[in-house]
Order: sequence, then structure tokens, then C-alpha cells
Amino acid sequence: MKVNIRENYDAMSKSVSDQIINYINNKPESLLCLAGGDTPLKTFEYLVKADENKEVDFSKAKFVSLDEWVGLGSSTKGSCVETLYTHLYDKLSINVEKQVCFFDGLSEDLDKECKRVDEFIGGSNGIDICLLGIGMNGHLGFNEPNVDPELKCSVIPLDPVTKTVGAKYFDEDVNVTAGITVGLKHLLASKELILIANAEKKAEIVKKTIEGKITIEVPSTMARKNENSVIYLDEEAASKLEK
Ligand code: GLP
Repeated sequence: MKVNIRENYDAMSKSVSDQIINYINNKPESLLCLAGGDTPLKTFEYLVKADENKEVDFSKAKFVSLDEWVGLGSSTKGSCVETLYTHLYDKLSINVEKQVCFFDGLSEDLDKECKRVDEFIGGSNGIDICLLGIGMNGHLGFNEPNVDPELKCSVIPLDPVTKTVGAKYFDEDVNVTAGITVGLKHLLASKELILIANAEKKAEIVKKTIEGKITIEVPSTMARKNENSVIYLDEEAASKLEK
């Protein structure tokens, strides 16, 4: 896994945005898989700016969203769907209906949701470029510690750390116990796999991700198996790295 350290969150986000834009400019009909959460928000700002300035054309691309809290939908501020539409999809010059595929966390048939998203990914010949935040416990999407790495789209019970940390996204109390997510099987097969982390609070998990043993106990270490994986960090998130 290539490690790219930038001076701060802003510079890190700009570099990530540049890599994505470059990919799309070379292959406009790509499938992008994008995380919600806080870490990608500045990258999204740069992507929106590039779209406005016509430095990139997303009109032929497809987007699959990484994950959703089971039981939440777009009316809950802080849900993955709300975050991605508010900060990215609604701001890009794309046809959202045709180009975006999202898990419905409110669906009564979550297995069907998994199949639907599996088919969307399969129909595009897999994910081209994937952007993942790293959870405090190393989760990728809702691929929690000790998940089966062979899973495609799946419903996964939430790790206690995820439940605690997850409260930061919501203004109201939400009772979430599971997540629906694109599984590691799809994520690790991405043609380009980008991990991102910023701030001091991520320094420990970043160290494990890059320098620790590759183990499903820390799902983010599995990204090192992908030959085209890269992690972008700000200096704070990189502060505990030894090399
Ligand atoms: C959350 C989400 C992921 C996100 C990750 C890191 O729980 N399930 O989509 O990438 O954890 O989040 P953040 O970027 O807010 O640290």
C-alpha cells in the first residue's frame, strides 16, 4: 500500500480529489464507491468544485454508496444517504436517479437490498475506484472486526466501538444495531483503492493499518492486499508511524 502524507486535511483532500478526477478523466464510465462519514467531506468539496469548473465530467460515471445504518434513511440528518446527497450527489451535474445506487436502510427486505447492490456492482464489472474512511476500530464501511472477507453486500451487526463513535453523526438519539454495507470481497477487488484518515485521533488505527499484521481483526489492514491501494493521511494521522 502506498502511503501519501500531506501537511494538513485540506492538502490531503485535494490530493485525493486529484486522484479521483484523474481516474475519471481516463475512464469516464467508471464505477465509484464512496464512503460517507466525516473524513471525505473536504474531498467532496474539491470534487464539486472541479465539476463546476468542468475539470471533470461525471456524466458517464456510476456511483455506489458504501454503507448505511440499518433503520435510517434520508430523513435522518447524519445517515450515510443524507450525507452523500447533501455534500456530493445533489451538487454534481449528474442524473442522480440513473447514476447513483444506494442501500435503503429502511427496507423491510435487506437481503433483497444486498442482491440489488451486488447486481449493480456486478453489472459494472466491479468497482473502479473506491474511497474509504477508516473507522476507529479499523472498519471499512460496516465491515467490522472479524467480518468474513469473502462477503459481498451484507448486513453486519455493529461493533460496540462503532455504536459509540456513531453517535457523533446524529443530532438526535438513534438506536442502531446493524449496518448494511458493500462487503470486503467487492472493496478489495477495486481497481484503485483509496483509504483516507486525518487528525490525531486516527493515529493509532493508522499505525495498525500500515505497520500492523494483516488480519481481519483490523479490517483496514486487508487493504494492503490490494496492489493498487493507497492511503492518504494528514501529518497528525501519520504521527505514530515509525517509517
Ligand atoms: C462510519 C461509516 C463509514 C465511514 C467510517 C469512518 O461508521 N460506516 O462509512 O467511512 O465509519 O468515519 P469517519 O470518516 O467519520 O471517521
